[in-house]
Amino acid sequence: MLAPAPSRLAYVPFVSVENMMKLVHRIGIAEMLTGLAEYIEQDFRRWELFDKTPRVASHSREGVIELMPTSDGEDYGFKYVNGHPKNTREGLQTVTAFGLLASVNTGYPVLLTEMTLLTALRTAATSAMVARHLAPEGARTMAMIGNGAQSEFQALAFRAICGITAVRLYDTDPAATAKAMRNLAGSGLTLTACRTAEEAILGAEIITTCTADKQNATILTDNMLGAGVHINAIGGDCPGKTELHPDILSRADVFVEYPEQTRIEGEIQQMPADFPVTEMWQVITGAAPGRRDAAQVTLFDGVGFAVEDFSALRYLRDHLHATGLFQDLDMIADPDDPRDLFGMLMRAGPEGAHAA
Ligand SMILES: NC(=O)c1ccc[n+]([C@@H]2O[C@H](COP(=O)([O-])OP(=O)(O)OC[C@H]3O[C@@H](n4cnc5c(N)ncnc54)[C@H](O)[C@@H]3O)[C@@H](O)[C@H]2O)c1
Repeated sequence: MLAPAPSRLAYVPFVSVENMMKLVHRIGIAEMLTGLAEYIEQDFRRWELFDKTPRVASHSREGVIELMPTSDGEDYGFKYVNGHPKNTREGLQTVTAFGLLASVNTGYPVLLTEMTLLTALRTAATSAMVARHLAPEGARTMAMIGNGAQSEFQALAFRAICGITAVRLYDTDPAATAKAMRNLAGSGLTLTACRTAEEAILGAEIITTCTADKQNATILTDNMLGAGVHINAIGGDCPGKTELHPDILSRADVFVEYPEQTRIEGEIQQMPADFPVTEMWQVITGAAPGRRDAAQVTLFDGVGFAVEDFSALRYLRDHLHATGLFQDLDMIADPDDPRDLFGMLMRAGPEGAHAA
């Protein structure tokens, strides 16, 4: 007897790394960053609707592995992501990720995807979307400190979403800066390679710190900073891993995604538990002020929150089917008779040939 073919619901669209790369090229990187920023902003506007929890982290001496779940009541999403700064020396990525979107109604997955590339895109889109609310009017120059895997995505998102025209790059490893300069040549951005962080921030209205180190580092100190800048600090995202001197936090107005997570992982882990912060969703909905004046130092203490991944999964689901850039994965056991899971297994035994 032939075993029945899996039902439609058994198949989950899967986006491989190869297909994600094709998809980004098909849509266009600037357009995709802009689209992701719109989806993320939409979800920040309906922030209160989401299930929220600090991500579930499993720390080791070498790094961290994390799960990031959330739901808006209709869809449920999670991301698996790691952070291993020592990986680069072994020829591996510091950050890799994959994720899943499911229907809350049935609990069945509706999308499984690589998220290493998608995380870089969503992180850059989030940073630029936040900066559009906080950066000084007319900001055109960004300092980019840390020129690793995230850096080009950040530069392109700030160009597409905030209209920056110049990037000043610095990394402790000049080879990383040279790589980013090569990758960004032809992007329309004016690029300057710098030898120190001090040199990189000269004339920059926006400063992005995106370094990786498994310890507290001091990439910027308060005396390096003038008035009126916006700092987009995204590299410090783990307990014991920060980038800014605490004096900067005292002088700046600090904006965060989800305080319960940021107080554990962000720059503000260096400050008392009641250190005042503003939640970005409140700025976006108009419930709290963003930048109040030209002299203010604003700081986005970005650690990456599950809602941003959820928005990215939503964006992908909405744009995927028109492209055909996915494979159907036979991922969910879905017998015709829901109580006959065992029968389905037996029909696929040595005697039963699969009909599909
Ligand atoms: N906030 C978020 O949502 C988010 C998302 C993704 C990654 N991250 C974090 O961003 C950081 C960077 O990620 P990546 O994938 O680009 O890592 P990466 O390892 O590819 O690049 C990091 C770069 O920082 C440089 N660096 C280290 N110390 C430095 C210093 N003191 N000054 C200047 N440069 C220095 C390294 O030489 C390297 O080129 C990581 O810590 C990662 O965990 C945050």
